[in-house]
Amino acid sequence: MPERRDHLHTRVLHAGAPAFDGGTAPVNAPLVRTSTVRFDSDATRAALHHRREAGEAVATYGRHGTATHRALEAALGELEGAEHVLLAPSGLAAVTLTFIALLSPGDHVLVQDSVYGPVRERIEPLLERLGVAFSYFNASAGLPHDAVRANTRLIYAESPSSFLYEVIDLPALAAFARQHGALLAADNTWGAGVLYRPLERGADISIQAITKYVSGHSDLMQGAVAVKDRDVGRRLRDTHEALGLSVGADDAWLALRGVRTLAVRLAQHQRHALHVARYLADTTGYVARVFYPALPEDPGHALWQRDFHGANGLVSFALRNAAHADAAAFVDALRLFGIGASWGGYESLALIAPASRLAMHGVWRSGAPVVRLHVGLEDPGDLVDDLAQAFARIAR
Ligand SMILES: Cc1ncc(COP(=O)(O)O)c(C=O)c1O
Repeated sequence: MPERRDHLHTRVLHAGAPAFDGGTAPVNAPLVRTSTVRFDSDATRAALHHRREAGEAVATYGRHGTATHRALEAALGELEGAEHVLLAPSGLAAVTLTFIALLSPGDHVLVQDSVYGPVRERIEPLLERLGVAFSYFNASAGLPHDAVRANTRLIYAESPSSFLYEVIDLPALAAFARQHGALLAADNTWGAGVLYRPLERGADISIQAITKYVSGHSDLMQGAVAVKDRDVGRRLRDTHEALGLSVGADDAWLALRGVRTLAVRLAQHQRHALHVARYLADTTGYVARVFYPALPEDPGHALWQRDFHGANGLVSFALRNAAHADAAAFVDALRLFGIGASWGGYESLALIAPASRLAMHGVWRSGAPVVRLHVGLEDPGDLVDDLAQAFARIAR
């Protein structure tokens, strides 16, 4: 008989479910809060300590997590196709952990120029202080043959990228990284595992801000790093331990609850975002360009169709013949969209993309203000009405 392989959505729903104990089991993993782990004997303590030292994700102290964290790690492992998952107190902490764990003084890291801004603004100065050299490449201009160096140990990418959703050829970049003896890490917050699985496309490390779609309810901060390779997992675990990174059990439990409905929420976000993106694409009087890889006219559409399983609720657009003040008047006029920096929750948000961040992207040189929408789960007709009234307001 062929081996039965359930669909990803099925596996993610059941991963980490508690085992039967005395003939019954709860549906949900218990919320276990503790700082102290008790042992029935010193021999048990020593055996668990030994297993932990050998790289197993077992807890001998609260900082290592509890059954709640193990259940979340199992679910995220299914989501990313990973063997090892490390939780971090924010998405940014997960990214910083990856850089610190995998780079040493004298190493060079090559970073895609359109990644999440704080990689450049916060992590680069920290790592440069520790003797790591940073440089950037424009992924839309082909593979970074001229930028790679003999000491490049890590290539860092994000597909689709922040604000403009530049889709990159990750399998080609992975082959390039391997050829040059570098690891490839990818920020997978956009794809969240349901829409995209970088480890299947050749990346060595996949990172998510759990804060966004996995949480889904704008009520927690968290990050995760997922890897297949045991040695890379070990390096990450050692640094994770040294940094004392720890996630509260309540947040881990909430994140696990988010995982269970992730696929169905993302499908709805995509339906609503496509509706909004098509409206914006037709609103040519106000809109110069829409950025959404699921639109056939988007430059990343073909790669997105090849490598992704869907799109999410993030849609950006450039205003036509407008200055920053017009963009500010537009977002101020919105009633249903809140003004906010985050995304991935159930609610709709709007944010003017900081010009300083767009200026770092090799793909966008026009200078026109860009508004990023996170299209939430409100009725899409109501969202379009809100956008239309805001356009009408700035036209006056
Ligand atoms: C693509 C991406 N990666 C990482 C992060 C950082 O996540 P957190 O806010 O949880 O630190 C964000 C946050 O906006 C993000 O958009």
